[in-house]
Amino acid sequence: MAKIMDGKAFAAKCKNQIREEAARLTEMGHQPGLAVVLVGENPASQVYVRNKDKDCRECGIYSAMYTLPEETSEEQLLELLDVLNHDDKINGILVQLPVPKHIDSQKVIEAIAPIKDVDAFHPTNVGYLTTGMPRFAPCTPAGIVKLMEEYGVDPAGKHCVVIGRSNIVGKPMALLLLQKNGTVTICHSKTPDLKEQCLRADILISAVGKTGFVTGDMVKEGAVVIDVAMNRNSEGKLCGDVVYEEVEPKASLITPVPGGVGPMTRVMLLENTLTACRLQNHMEDPAC
Ligand code: GUN
Repeated sequence: MAKIMDGKAFAAKCKNQIREEAARLTEMGHQPGLAVVLVGENPASQVYVRNKDKDCRECGIYSAMYTLPEETSEEQLLELLDVLNHDDKINGILVQLPVPKHIDSQKVIEAIAPIKDVDAFHPTNVGYLTTGMPRFAPCTPAGIVKLMEEYGVDPAGKHCVVIGRSNIVGKPMALLLLQKNGTVTICHSKTPDLKEQCLRADILISAVGKTGFVTGDMVKEGAVVIDVAMNRNSEGKLCGDVVYEEVEPKASLITPVPGGVGPMTRVMLLENTLTACRLQNHMEDPAC
């Protein structure tokens, strides 16, 4: 039987530390500030954005929300980002993805000043991550690494298999595991022997977005299983990629959905905002 990696409980603990650090920075005259921009009315995005605003308020981080109509032009969005890039109250900027089809997401990502890019999607920050000296790491993979640390999971010398190759999760996840001396395989929709690859994993990370994708016969006895997905099953219930009842008896550690990776992603956005604030005010990272 697996031990559950309780992201919800750990995130609550992390938020207490974030609140203290935000208060320290505020006292020094530098209240951290995050701007979140949502274009359009994607219901899932609306929930995510509302949660980010709530998290900031709970931790004493200044939060500026911009909810723009679907028909906002690319030019209007880029103009807003230019204003935010130059706004001293704003240390972090996040444009919720996906953006509507008429807007080029890569242009948007590149319009955010790298020092305010708390998503770490800008090519400058991707380059820093790739060369092993990140200032920000993308929130979901960074949250997974933090959760693994809390549960004593060290990727060094382990065979890590990541399913999914997105810029948001799969690719940066692989880079972070490599930085921690894991041996990393990235699998994707064109991998011919997915099951065999997964069976070799000491640490298996699934970021596919398909309910029921990871079944018990794909998991090695004693593996650590991390489920990144937030799917809805046929009954509308939130669930991950992993068939929990099949995989849990084989795994040594497993993340639940909800309450595993999701809360850690939210924590890392707050942490990246504090880091951005310190960087912009030429302050050292506190030793922690
Ligand atoms: N949409 C889904 N995940 C993310 C994320 O991590 N950042 C942004 N900006 N949009 C997302």
